[in-house]
Amino acid sequence: METMLDRSGDRGGIGGAAIPQPLLNVCDTTLQYKTKRQIVTATYEVDFQVFPADRFVLLGPSGCGKSTLLKAVGGFLSPVSGRIEINGVAVDRPGPDRMMVFQEFDQLLPWKTVIENIEFPMVTSHKYTPEEARERAETFLEKVNLSKFRDAYPHTLSGGMKQRVAIARGMAMGPAILLMDEPFAALDALTRLKMQQELLQLWDELHFTVLFVTHSIQEAIILGTRILVLSPHPGQVRAEINAHEYSHENQTCDGFKALQQRIHDMLFAESAHIAGIRPQKGLAHDA
Ligand SMILES: Nc1ncnc2c1ncn2[C@@H]1O[C@H](COP(=O)(O)OP(=O)(O)OP(=O)(O)O)[C@@H](O)[C@H]1O
Ligand SMILES: [Mg+2]
Repeated sequence: METMLDRSGDRGGIGGAAIPQPLLNVCDTTLQYKTKRQIVTATYEVDFQVFPADRFVLLGPSGCGKSTLLKAVGGFLSPVSGRIEINGVAVDRPGPDRMMVFQEFDQLLPWKTVIENIEFPMVTSHKYTPEEARERAETFLEKVNLSKFRDAYPHTLSGGMKQRVAIARGMAMGPAILLMDEPFAALDALTRLKMQQELLQLWDELHFTVLFVTHSIQEAIILGTRILVLSPHPGQVRAEINAHEYSHENQTCDGFKALQQRIHDMLFAESAHIAGIRPQKGLAHDA
């Protein structure tokens, strides 16, 4: 087992500076599914902290427990050991402070228009009045460049447009953290690139906090300020890596390529160890 656990980050704490309270604290969390026949351990003692305005990426091969971790942060699954806290309070149920964007394009309500889909959680959670919800929905629809489609129904939209609506819906709620489970994985390469750029532009404007799941090393480095590399099933932390300095613009530079290779080696070493020197399926070196 490699010992490349690089968790130095740049969060202070050196020379007596105070470490800020994490927005999300996932502490030694083991997550399991109990089926009739067996107990499946999805993650084992996973530990990480997400701070305000982090773009924190969970990266690992298929089946390592990325979606399970997101579900647990979302409050849909309780840890069998360890704990998950938002602003110091244990997560024990779903809440409007954690909005999820999924990989699937069919996450919108088909009988509601685009604008109604975005308003829906704001109104049903009573976080906003109907007037505020309408105003916020219009604002975020504009931010994802879909104002023209406000009255369209989801089935008339492309996959990328549906994902934009889902992102607008998530962000319009003003959650403490946006949870994104491979939201661009099913898109064609060009649309995926555009969506990544748009997400980064939105972040530049709003500095929201996002926990983003991917199995693309390239996407992780481009989108993430920090990357948590997970081992194959059951997911354990292999490393936590800073990726602040990388973007679409500098992905051909030596530093980007070196980091890509380093993460690849880290994941490949682990998967080779488990699978008998064969690359882990479902792990993309690039998008
Ligand atoms: N509802 C479930 N019941 C039982 N086992 C499950 C369930 N959901 C997931 N698992 C198992 O938990 C493990 C982690 O699954 P998870 O979906 O979190 O992986 P992942 O990292 O998101 O994979 P992918 O990249 O393919 O989406 C896998 O072994 C999976 O088979
Ligand atoms: Mg998944």
